[in-house]
Amino acid sequence: MTTYASRIMPTYGRLPVSFSRGAGELLFDGDDRPYIDGVSGIAVTNLGHCHPAVTKAITAQAGALVHTSNLYRIDTQEALAATLTDATGMDNVFFCNSGAEGNETAIKLARQYGAQKGIEHPGIVVLEAAFHGRTMAALSATGNEKLQLGFGPMLEGFYRVARDDIEAISRLAEAHANIVAVLVEPIQGEGGVYPLPVEYLKQLRAICDQHQWLLMFDEVQCGNGRCGSLYAFQRIGVTPDVLVTAKGLGNGVPIGACMARGDAAEVMAPGHHGTTYGGNPLACSAAQAVVDTLIGEQLWDRADPIRAAVLEGFRERLAEPGWVREVRGTGLMIGIELTLPCDGLVQCGLDQGVLLNVTAGRTVRLLPPLVMSDENARVLGGGVAEAIGAMMARQTQTKGA
Ligand SMILES: Cc1ncc(COP(=O)(O)O)c(C=O)c1O
Repeated sequence: MTTYASRIMPTYGRLPVSFSRGAGELLFDGDDRPYIDGVSGIAVTNLGHCHPAVTKAITAQAGALVHTSNLYRIDTQEALAATLTDATGMDNVFFCNSGAEGNETAIKLARQYGAQKGIEHPGIVVLEAAFHGRTMAALSATGNEKLQLGFGPMLEGFYRVARDDIEAISRLAEAHANIVAVLVEPIQGEGGVYPLPVEYLKQLRAICDQHQWLLMFDEVQCGNGRCGSLYAFQRIGVTPDVLVTAKGLGNGVPIGACMARGDAAEVMAPGHHGTTYGGNPLACSAAQAVVDTLIGEQLWDRADPIRAAVLEGFRERLAEPGWVREVRGTGLMIGIELTLPCDGLVQCGLDQGVLLNVTAGRTVRLLPPLVMSDENARVLGGGVAEAIGAMMARQTQTKGA
């Protein structure tokens, strides 16, 4: 088959496989070989591929109306906003098209919140190893110098602290009167699958209350049922002022959302922010089907049992327990940190018929969908263990050669 890979700007290191169809937790390549999907398009297809409710909603909406403009009222957008605010306790929503855009919105909202309080150079506290996206403000908030290299100057106004150091944030509060907000992922994803401790998040909430800072949660990856509640903050029991999500919200149809409550919901006014596609009828219909399905079936209750089955299958087939340094994460954000680099592991996974991802160098990241059967979850875990075994064997052979 002719391929046109060279016609694509080479920003991604891609694997030599492409998929022609998907169903639930399975993806099929051009030869119709099935793969168990332990990645879900990086935490996107939380309801599995081609979920019937989402397919039906997209199909019906595509036949009725795809796009109008935010110049006009959009009924599907208002309905989705009502569902999301009812389900989260937030007051209002701005819709955009991706996680990075959701964070751009939150960053602009925080700066505007500061401006309205008379703060000229508002600052936002962010964490080491954070990932908030690739657009310039989101990249500046991201705590990974490798991703920023060559794209400077970064946006100013971010104060970065270690992820588990609450004292560092208290010290910042004393030193800088211009701070207006804290932006964190409650469960860091790209940074290596690290849940922030509940106690830490409670203390963060208290510091924000004390200084009238906005507590902003980036739930782009951990939200939409993945971590055992509709949004992770609901399981954690710490409510943010600003809640950003995307990825799983549309189950593959691009949509992001920045929700706000209380004072944060009063900040934005006409002309402050906008995007052409944000919250268009097609995207909102898909997201409405996603959220209705999640809520209607309380699908997040599957997160912990699927996690347990994946890890059971993994432990049963892992040849050498010493290869694993730590297992981390919450619900269906599973991080398995290995003691050795994961070079070639994803390809070994493909050979086993399982899709897995590696982040932060040595951490195997599994993000299976909420619709995965226990049986396939065990097969996924076992396949990952076999892939690690195969990788270790290859590494040993290469060293010996
Ligand atoms: C926590 C978090 N925030 C933001 C983003 C950026 O989202 P997007 O790629 O949709 O811009 C990601 C993507 O991986 C993410 O994991």
